[in-house]
Amino acid sequence: MPTASTTDRLSQARETLGSVGQGHVLSFVDQLDEAATERLLSEVEAIDWNRLAKLIESHVKHKPEFKLPESIEPVPTYPSTPTAELKDKYKKSRELGEQLIREGKVAAFTVAGGQGTRLGWPGPKGAYPATPIRKLPLFACMAEYLRKVEKKYGTACRWYIMTSPANDADTRAFFKDHGYLGLAPDQVVFFPQGMLPAIDTTTGKVLMASQSGLALSPNGHGGSLQALYASGAIDDMKQRGIEQISYTQVDNPLVKVIDPVFIGLHAMDNCGMSSKMLPKAFPKEKLGNFCLVDGRVTVIEYSDLPDELTEQRLDNGQLRFNAGSIAIHMMRVDFVESLNTAPGGFALPYHRAEKKVTCLDTTTGKLIEPQSPNAVKLETFVFDALPLCERSIVYETQREEEFAPIKNATGVDSPETSAQLQTQRAAKWLERCGVAVPRDEQGDPQAVIEISQLKAIEPDDLSGNGASLPASIEAGTEVLL
Ligand code: UTP
Repeated sequence: MPTASTTDRLSQARETLGSVGQGHVLSFVDQLDEAATERLLSEVEAIDWNRLAKLIESHVKHKPEFKLPESIEPVPTYPSTPTAELKDKYKKSRELGEQLIREGKVAAFTVAGGQGTRLGWPGPKGAYPATPIRKLPLFACMAEYLRKVEKKYGTACRWYIMTSPANDADTRAFFKDHGYLGLAPDQVVFFPQGMLPAIDTTTGKVLMASQSGLALSPNGHGGSLQALYASGAIDDMKQRGIEQISYTQVDNPLVKVIDPVFIGLHAMDNCGMSSKMLPKAFPKEKLGNFCLVDGRVTVIEYSDLPDELTEQRLDNGQLRFNAGSIAIHMMRVDFVESLNTAPGGFALPYHRAEKKVTCLDTTTGKLIEPQSPNAVKLETFVFDALPLCERSIVYETQREEEFAPIKNATGVDSPETSAQLQTQRAAKWLERCGVAVPRDEQGDPQAVIEISQLKAIEPDDLSGNGASLPASIEAGTEVLL
């Protein structure tokens, strides 16, 4: 028998769902036990149904049309290697970044709430074995990075990790089972992001995963900006004197989790949120384009930028819009706070993705495995917050230094390509220190090389240890340093 409060909640849920045409969500509620009813009610109550109804109208029943802004300009960027005029600024930026790290004013933040569907790995993506020799999980790559930062700068950076309700318990268990990857347990803070139900593309009805559960999925990495605040992470940062957040994704084992020069440039220019970019390899490379729209840094998706702009080249042959977004950002804590405390709040635009979602047929109670996309998932993207801040810089990084994403199980951006890129960076760093690395005709290293980030997070960390490096690497071997 439902308790009195459950009865009240149920009738409230019936009324709310009925008013937005989603009454089918409670089709099986009379057959559920107390625990299942409670689960379903909690899911229903976590959703703003009126807002969702508007979104269904605008993004499912209709496809929002992308309106190209009237004035789009390329964004000015800080080059990866400073020009003569910038040398002094970069030196001072590094010093400032290092000082902020030492003073404990910088936190690492990893978004790890995604479903990793393309990779098809059953656990949290951060537990995926990523490095070429040790098969170190992605989370462990980042933990090694942070341990090295602590060794270099004498301060442990706090690490905030955004999970989703779907992988939160597994992520926490992974850290616990692996001794917090050598970090202090209280250095790592987990919090889950929000979820939204998938919507049936033809009917606009929310889909159910079971009789007692909605077909929920995480609300996009843009959800991090609300989750940081709602979870209390921003308050926690303020209490600890943390001023800057270094935002990275979980799926790039080469990412500089904390980068003093980037931190320094962003802080020196007094920015709310800043970004790293890669020069695009070709016009339609699947990276968002950094542009200037009405003077504000804005990312326009590669598919939304018309060909005549994507193909435009400068006199030197370089693409005019060449700044590709790789989801690495700095954010000031008070910028994230100000978004959340603004009168009327803040809203990032929703993006729709058509997906295959296994769901319950609420008339028969049977599960349907669709053969083609049947649902719309709605997500917000973190880079859509860039135009909300007055000051924002874009800093170029080098592909071979910092970009080896693991997205797909095979082919492009797969574990295989990522491992090759990791070896290539290691080879380059060793050569800089005078180690002879055998290369084939294409210039690829003829050995598999892995450098632990406990040893080096930048090439100069290796040169200090010159004596412990081999004079050369033998072709066909595996070398772990
Ligand atoms: P992707 O957009 O590559 O998505 O996420 P994904 O979930 O990892 O993989 P697919 O698309 O299902 O195959 C980029 C980063 O953003 C995080 C991911 O965990 C990853 O670090 N992310 C994505 C979230 O934290 N929450 C989300 O809702 C979506």
